[in-house]
Amino acid sequence: MGKRVAVVLAGCGVFDGSEIHEASAALVHLSRGGAEVKIFAPNIEQRDVVNHLKGSPTDEKRNVLVESARLARGNIQDLAELKVSEFDAVIFPGGFGVAKNLCSWAVDGKNCTVNEHVNSTLQAFHKAKKPIGLCCISPVLAAKVFPGCEVTVGQDKNVDGRFPDAETASAIAELGCKHICKDVSESHVDKANKIVTTCAFMCKAPLHQIFDGIGTMVEEVLKLA
Ligand SMILES: *[C@@H]1O[C@H](CO)[C@@H](O)[C@H](O)[C@H]1NC(C)=O
Ligand SMILES: *[C@@H]1O[C@H](CO)[C@@H](O)[C@H](O)[C@H]1NC(C)=O
Repeated sequence: MGKRVAVVLAGCGVFDGSEIHEASAALVHLSRGGAEVKIFAPNIEQRDVVNHLKGSPTDEKRNVLVESARLARGNIQDLAELKVSEFDAVIFPGGFGVAKNLCSWAVDGKNCTVNEHVNSTLQAFHKAKKPIGLCCISPVLAAKVFPGCEVTVGQDKNVDGRFPDAETASAIAELGCKHICKDVSESHVDKANKIVTTCAFMCKAPLHQIFDGIGTMVEEVLKLA
């Protein structure tokens, strides 16, 4: 039987929700790996709604679960209903929605709060020694919830201008975690905590390299599950 994997979304669209290519890449690699996937999102209002054509916020209100349902083709459940006993692993794709809706990193940085259902989901998988996969900005969730863990968000310096958000690595270190420098095609496995991370769109890289990097993350998660 395939590994049972929960995928947690944060809306639909890079600037206010889940990054669509990352969510899709994770789902494609999970499919190839023979996993049985169920998709979840918190039933909360989005922090903001961004006009992705202009890159500016609008005064619309949208719900994270309703927007995430677009990516899930309607087949999605409220994160509050996730039962860890029914899964072997959990994966959080990235996108600013993670830093706006799943936690408040976008405004509070390392002082952020984490949505209670996101926190309890992470705690429950960790306690059950089931693997947690995260990409792009999502590793800050692990850094905040599991001080001392090892994650990557790419490089800790803006190497070749490819890592414009490299200061995220310092914020992760300030939380007492170890930031491991990795390129976009690689992932890092924190074996003790069963946390697997890859930088995805934290690196300015061609889409297929991001896709492949997420593939290594999914592969490692399935191996640990
Ligand atoms: C976090 O909190 C500390 C102490 O209150 C404050 O000095 C710092 O500026 C805050 N950092 C961010 C990113 O908000
Ligand atoms: C997560 O939940 C635990 C248990 O309720 C709590 O002690 C901890 O402070 C929470 N962590 C965050 C980052 O909200």
